[in-house]
Amino acid sequence: MKNILSLVNLDNAQALDLINNSIKIKKNPQKYSDSMHNKTMLMLFEKPSLRTRVSFQVGMQQLGGYSVVIEAKDTPLGEKESIADTAKVSSRYCDLMMARMFRQEDIEELASNAAVPVINGLTDTFHPCQILSDLLTIHEKKGKLKGLKLAFVGDGNNNITHDLLLGCSAVGIDVSVGCPRQFEPQKWIVEIAEKKAKSIGSKVMVFGDAKKAAKGADIVYADTWMSYHIPKKEKESRIRIFQPYRVNQKLMSYAKKDAVFMNCLPAMRGYEQAAEVIDGNQSIVFDQAENRLHMQKAVILKLMGKR
Ligand code: CP
Ligand code: NVA
Repeated sequence: MKNILSLVNLDNAQALDLINNSIKIKKNPQKYSDSMHNKTMLMLFEKPSLRTRVSFQVGMQQLGGYSVVIEAKDTPLGEKESIADTAKVSSRYCDLMMARMFRQEDIEELASNAAVPVINGLTDTFHPCQILSDLLTIHEKKGKLKGLKLAFVGDGNNNITHDLLLGCSAVGIDVSVGCPRQFEPQKWIVEIAEKKAKSIGSKVMVFGDAKKAAKGADIVYADTWMSYHIPKKEKESRIRIFQPYRVNQKLMSYAKKDAVFMNCLPAMRGYEQAAEVIDGNQSIVFDQAENRLHMQKAVILKLMGKR
């Protein structure tokens, strides 16, 4: 594994390896406090962030290393400097890079010109580290992965949805997406997820109806209707379109009795989920957020060739 740019190529063994390592790191963080001694990670942001930024930065620090955080707008990137030159220069200073960019093609270009590992901290199309840590959270809460069912409802053409499809199908979790027809996940990604699911014996389903998607689920997952890259002027029309996909108590009642509710956060109460759900006793969103830290460390160590 040189880079983590999406979960397209993630297989069951790689996923379980990262999950097992993150469990060890979470149990005994002290053991890893020197693992990144004298190493520096560059973190480049084209979009806002709380969790990804802080968990990677704190993670690097707890591993004994350093991080440098820059906003893309404060660099010459785009106007006076190419992505390729940015990657080549940064590789001379840093031991690995994490970037949050708009376009997936851009992070791929960054990675192909970097001499050091590159981690995708979210693009419009994928958010791999979020879903890796979500698999850790699901494993913790349910004691297993294979054989579970996760229902995602809302914007299907979305970074979280795409990597959920790929990550869950790698480990044998059935995934059902409930979304409006015009917001279905990208077809090529569904096709890869279907292939993975077939080889491990799980299923991938896409429904126009939220209730159908949620039926019998062990996990109900929501994400914002207004991802960072969506223009503000689309807000009103999106609220109208996605309103039938809001996760409320009624929708949760179609899932299993012991189902958990997840949202990668940031979350808006009254939009993608009702406050009663995200603040209720089925919600595990803050444990989910905490696990970003433990999985980021496992990802960093894996790419640096360390256990
Ligand atoms: N879940 C997540 O990636 O949050 P941030 O946008 O705050 O990093
Ligand atoms: N789909 C969301 C995820 C936020 C972590 C976005 O792109 O804004």
